[in-house]
Amino acid sequence: MVDIYGYFIIFVLSLTTILFIRSFSSSSGIKSRLPPSPFALPIIGHLHLLAPIPHQALHKLSIKYGPIFRFFLGSVPCLAVSSPELAKEFLRTYEASYLDRPRNATTVYLTYGSKDFMFAPFGPYWKLMKKLVMSDLLNGKTLELLLPLRQDETNWFLHSLSQKAKLGKAVDVKGELMKLTNNVISRMLMSERCSEDENETDDMRKLVPEISEITGKFNLADYIWFCKNLDLQGYKKRVKEIHRRFDQLIERIISEHEDERMKKGKDEVRDLLDILLNISEDETMEMKLTKENIKAFILNLFVAGTDTSALTIEWALAELINHPRIMKKAIEEIDRVVGKNRLLEESDIPNLPYLQAIVKEALRLHPTAPMILRTSTEDCTVGGYLIPAQTLVFVNVWALGRDPQNWDDPLEFNPERFEGSQVDVRGQHFHMLPFGSGRRMCPGTSLAMQVAQVTLGVMIQCFEWKADKNGDMAQVDMEEGQGITLPRANPLICVPVARLDSVIPSM
Ligand code: HEM
Repeated sequence: MVDIYGYFIIFVLSLTTILFIRSFSSSSGIKSRLPPSPFALPIIGHLHLLAPIPHQALHKLSIKYGPIFRFFLGSVPCLAVSSPELAKEFLRTYEASYLDRPRNATTVYLTYGSKDFMFAPFGPYWKLMKKLVMSDLLNGKTLELLLPLRQDETNWFLHSLSQKAKLGKAVDVKGELMKLTNNVISRMLMSERCSEDENETDDMRKLVPEISEITGKFNLADYIWFCKNLDLQGYKKRVKEIHRRFDQLIERIISEHEDERMKKGKDEVRDLLDILLNISEDETMEMKLTKENIKAFILNLFVAGTDTSALTIEWALAELINHPRIMKKAIEEIDRVVGKNRLLEESDIPNLPYLQAIVKEALRLHPTAPMILRTSTEDCTVGGYLIPAQTLVFVNVWALGRDPQNWDDPLEFNPERFEGSQVDVRGQHFHMLPFGSGRRMCPGTSLAMQVAQVTLGVMIQCFEWKADKNGDMAQVDMEEGQGITLPRANPLICVPVARLDSVIPSM
């Protein structure tokens, strides 16, 4: 309601002014070299065209204006890109000019004034953090070392589902998955599970979806100068409250870590937070890591890594429920490779190509980061068009995955399309970019793929999934909701029915 009210005021205001942006661009003399652009309203530019779900709206516009077109969020120049060839130009050929990410009032506030990694400009601080992420947290060796932790969390997850199955109780699939992904990240980062207490409002599990949702909103204060201090949509107030809750939680965890370090000494490193605290106290480091850097970095990993992974699994399960033939084939593969006497493990994944194909197909149709966002740092000519510095570039991954030019029957969920195909998800195939590409590609790709494949695998190995709260719905809807991470519009509610209860370890 607040949203509609805000847009309404701006819409009325804009109708009373002249068509400023149009006349400006035609008189500038460079119009012919700029990409095409839909008709823009004064003041709001094209903001009104992007509601309610921006990646869908940009896709519709690309059908009319082509795979590269310009638009304005208020007065901020933006570019929508939706062909593999052009995505490659931006993310590989001219990568050096597109290594920064756009920031807005919400992300700046939540990240302690841009002290984080995800939105840090490409420079010495980003490079230091990237090195840390790749050498101490998300590289193959550390992932291998942390395998028992992931297995343990998978067992807890199955145990909880099994309890519900015994009672014939329906579960909110995403809610259960968020507990799992949050616990995995939380234990890797700070040796602590997220709260089990359903009433704990400051639990990370509850904060992350709220952060994803609010970060995905277009805040008028970011794009329209006279709205800067107005908070017409009420976002500023909400962001402050979310930030306060996060800060309280993370302060508690850091101070517990500091107490432990006092007791046991600094050499006993248990997790990434210990490593970060050691670095922050190291006087010889060329760059000082502050407590706010640490807090913002932890926030990044939770927001980037938990919701995205949980949603990928939720979309994949929804597709399997709607495609019983594919579900049957996947279960047959698991029974053949793993058998019925033990639980599927990460080491089985290389022998389960159909399960791998299902996760890829889910990421093609439901990429849980539907757009890659970058900002240009200098003028460039791409695809024959002039792209000025400080243009915000949206590579529409969602549209790339649904384009009939790139895929046969693109809207069909058909994992067989990946059988015998070399197409993977690691940023080399520009019609399939769920994790982005190049130097700023997702550093959590391997972890996310392992968690998604194993979790989906054990979910269908151990349970049958009956849709809806009474378990009597044959099909589930596939409508998308709002947010930066492609949530479902309606939660996936299912009754799990035990299939192979004996392979679930007792806890
Ligand atoms: C299915 C799950 C996931 C998806 C779909 C996903 C997708 C993405 C995408 C598209 C980007 C932007 C890439 C680019 O600009 O080229 C990104 C960045 C990032 N992701 Fe992920 N991600 C997932 C899981 C994870 C996990 C598990 C972690 C870590 C625990 C993680 C951490 C990050 C970070 C820190 C960045 C920012 C990198 C930078 O700016 O240099 N992500 N992710």
